[in-house]
Amino acid sequence: MGFLQLLSSSLSLLSFLLLILSPPTTTTAQPQPPLFKCTSKLTCQSLVGYVSPNATTLAHIQSLFQVPTLLSLLGVNSLPPTTPPTHPVLANQTVTIPFPCRCINGSGVSDNVPKYVVVKDDGLYHIASQVFSGLVTYPQIQAVNNIPDANLIVIGDKLWVPLPCSCDDVEGREVVHYGHVVADGSSVEGIAAQFGVAPATVMSVNGITDPKKLIAGQVLDVPLTACSSSVKSNSPDYPLLAANGTYVYTANNCVKCSCDPSNNFTLQCQPSEMKPANWSSCPSSQCSSSSLLGNSTSSRCSRSTCAYAGYTNNSILTTLAVQNTCPAAAPPSKNGAWKIQERDWSRSLLLLTIQLLMMVHRFL
Ligand SMILES: *[C@@H]1O[C@H](CO)[C@@H](O)[C@H](O)[C@H]1NC(C)=O
Ligand SMILES: *[C@@H]1O[C@H](CO)[C@@H](O)[C@H](O)[C@H]1NC(C)=O
Ligand SMILES: *[C@@H]1O[C@H](CO)[C@@H](O)[C@H](O)[C@H]1NC(C)=O
Ligand SMILES: *[C@@H]1O[C@H](CO)[C@@H](O)[C@H](O)[C@H]1NC(C)=O
Ligand SMILES: *[C@@H]1O[C@H](CO)[C@@H](O)[C@H](O)[C@H]1NC(C)=O
Ligand SMILES: *[C@@H]1O[C@H](CO)[C@@H](O)[C@H](O)[C@H]1NC(C)=O
Ligand SMILES: *[C@@H]1O[C@H](CO)[C@@H](O)[C@H](O)[C@H]1NC(C)=O
Ligand SMILES: *[C@@H]1O[C@H](CO)[C@@H](O)[C@H](O)[C@H]1NC(C)=O
Repeated sequence: MGFLQLLSSSLSLLSFLLLILSPPTTTTAQPQPPLFKCTSKLTCQSLVGYVSPNATTLAHIQSLFQVPTLLSLLGVNSLPPTTPPTHPVLANQTVTIPFPCRCINGSGVSDNVPKYVVVKDDGLYHIASQVFSGLVTYPQIQAVNNIPDANLIVIGDKLWVPLPCSCDDVEGREVVHYGHVVADGSSVEGIAAQFGVAPATVMSVNGITDPKKLIAGQVLDVPLTACSSSVKSNSPDYPLLAANGTYVYTANNCVKCSCDPSNNFTLQCQPSEMKPANWSSCPSSQCSSSSLLGNSTSSRCSRSTCAYAGYTNNSILTTLAVQNTCPAAAPPSKNGAWKIQERDWSRSLLLLTIQLLMMVHRFL
């Protein structure tokens, strides 16, 4: 465990040094965030990071954004499916919101959701910047709701809040687009690292040429790594997108699919054991009598998985997905540090630590 502590302390030293070496790269001008580029003909699920202005509950946030099921909110936040709706959310805590996205005229907007009902003493600016934590600007709400005078909104008015989103592939891969409100003092590098995306990808997706021109309050399009799936294009849940570390229920809640780095980011689906929505019972989901949804068998260089392929009005489709598991002829690394065997684990950590310390040294 000593190595782990050394590793984590050198990591925090490293991030501390990065912090003092790179000055904050945001400026605090009044932003006019452009909507995200979106040209796909499909609708898809997209995400935004909502920073709750007040201490509240998941149920309140679910209702504010009209997320159809609590499970879908839990899944994108990597919270266990048993989490209750009363689960507390702290002031300033970020909650990931899932919503359907549609491309209109080259930009992505939330597909007719959420609808916000104006209450006493509301103003468009307050609704945009406070209630929806700067995910939209008030002129955007004004435009899509055809409001001639921004100062004239009436209690009870139902306003569509157009959240920014996209359904486009990025660098030839399916991704889950995540709208992130840039906090004061953050940098492209920091945000990219936080979400496990290459800084160059964040810059190109957002048309940023100079990372120093990042504006606090701007909504960045962060393309999260998504798992590939076998869902057919005529299934109602196509494209079934799940970001790294999240899960999603589909096929009327009969199937639970998770996305993580194992199996080269292939979506892992299995029967959910949940009470179905719309169906009286879950139809069977198997590839053969001995291979149920989610079962895998491995042989020397391949792994066959009974994978989820979508659903119809009365059935769940499956397909036998075969994956090559032999390591691609990767060039051996110089010191062999990547050929980790179990007993060499601590030695690799030591090597990693030394490399990190050398990096820190180079910064000084
Ligand atoms: C939330 O963040 C804002 C801006 O960073 C800060 O002014 C406020 O005090 C924070 N509120 C709480 C409860 O932490
Ligand atoms: C798309 O753009 C065209 C031309 O600018 C405009 O006439 C049309 O109303 C726009 N459609 C939507 C849905 O905004
Ligand atoms: C947050 O709470 C304060 C005090 O309770 C209230 O005045 C304010 O309207 C709330 N903001 C939102 C966005 O609900
Ligand atoms: C996926 O998530 C894991 C665990 O949170 C993280 O370590 C990894 O960097 C992520 N990978 C990508 C490509 O996002
Ligand atoms: C149940 O069916 C309705 C109508 O087809 C659909 O809108 C809804 O999303 C379905 N529920 C689930 C959990 O899939
Ligand atoms: C992993 O997935 C990527 C993209 O889906 C693919 O190009 C690559 O060949 C896969 N690698 C292996 C070892 O299956
Ligand atoms: C096959 O999948 C079922 C349902 O998920 C599971 O209960 C069972 O243990 C799996 N069998 C094997 C051999 O993996
Ligand atoms: C599935 O159900 C919908 C609505 O109930 C219906 O419109 C559609 O024709 C059905 N499709 C098939 C293939 O049965």
